[in-house]
Amino acid sequence: MTLRQSLVSGLGLLASLSSGAVLPRGGGAELAGYPNPNDQQLFNIEKAAGGLLPNGKITKLSAAAIANLQVIAINEQFEVAYFTSLINNITSGQHGYSPQSLSSPMSTGRMLETLNAILAQEALHDLGAVSFLKAFKSSFVPEPCTYAFPTTNIQESISLISTVTSLVLGTLQDVTQALAQNGDDGLARIIASIIGQEGEQNGFFRLVTDVLPAEKPFLTTSIGAYAWSALQSFLVKCPFDLNVIPLPIFPPLNVHTKVKQQDMTVTYSADLHKYGESFVKSLHKDKLWITYLGGQQVPISVPVSSFELKGTTVEVCAEFPWSKNILDGFIIAALTNSSNFAGPDDLPAGTLAAPGLIEVEHSDYW
Ligand SMILES: *[C@@H]1O[C@H](CO)[C@@H](O)[C@H](O)[C@H]1NC(C)=O
Ligand SMILES: *[C@@H]1O[C@H](CO)[C@@H](O)[C@H](O)[C@H]1NC(C)=O
Repeated sequence: MTLRQSLVSGLGLLASLSSGAVLPRGGGAELAGYPNPNDQQLFNIEKAAGGLLPNGKITKLSAAAIANLQVIAINEQFEVAYFTSLINNITSGQHGYSPQSLSSPMSTGRMLETLNAILAQEALHDLGAVSFLKAFKSSFVPEPCTYAFPTTNIQESISLISTVTSLVLGTLQDVTQALAQNGDDGLARIIASIIGQEGEQNGFFRLVTDVLPAEKPFLTTSIGAYAWSALQSFLVKCPFDLNVIPLPIFPPLNVHTKVKQQDMTVTYSADLHKYGESFVKSLHKDKLWITYLGGQQVPISVPVSSFELKGTTVEVCAEFPWSKNILDGFIIAALTNSSNFAGPDDLPAGTLAAPGLIEVEHSDYW
């Protein structure tokens, strides 16, 4: 089913909502024409999103900025598909997708109105990135992939997209750094406006899933390679070679322990087969760390306290050093083969598996 068809079929189901329900703006069909809308279709998406694409002149874009925009576009296209799926699941009344079943319940009408606005906003983030890529004759302009989503109810679904949004919010800091390093001053203003916009979204996602909406004073930073690696788990088939993106893809770091606001031992695992069996066999407990990104602290490396090998899968335990560092909210973990990183830019060279995505449970909220 195309995006268009799925939205249209969602529309039919909307009609069966109780008469008291507030219909979302545009009835869910405002993405008609996406990802190649004509002028009128674009204007309809802009109306649904509450504003127009940027129209300021940008005179130059560095190669680094172009690579960043490619990853941003791929990510935004994933988000468009995700929100489309979520909206469809809600409008079709799929079991587990009633907004009343959220830990902070909400009416279906308000939820759909909010998600439809967010859907259109994400579509414009993508269309904006793509239009810059085209204007600057980028040799590669991403087109939507097919995706797989692991979630089967609305609470899980909004929690997952909240975590992804946190990762994006961290990565847009990395993009901003790259823009500054390359003198891409025009785009910096636009990216800053997107950071705030995604932050507004995330406050909403966090609120309805019952976690503290404003999690920490300085949001956790991330790097392009970690966001690109995390995105892989959702991509089924893309109409382009993934190697076109000049970033490494790390195996995911699985987090097996529910992490709380306390010093505790956390179990992690990662399948490192991509490095080859002999490399994996050469790994040694004394040369492995879990390195955390939390807020704007330089990477925090903790030696692993246990190490077990099952085939090419490593299982390690490491301390979560909460009390000293106040690691609240969204935290990123990486399995690294060095420590004492001066900053996030140094992480890719020492990373074996990442990111491990941690939402620290807030013990005394509500
Ligand atoms: C929508 O429902 C399908 C079928 O249950 C599920 O596979 C998918 O993950 C759901 N989408 C979201 C975003 O939760
Ligand atoms: C760390 O792992 C990387 C693979 O990501 C490898 O290239 C590098 O040589 C390793 N460094 C050490 C010190 O083992």
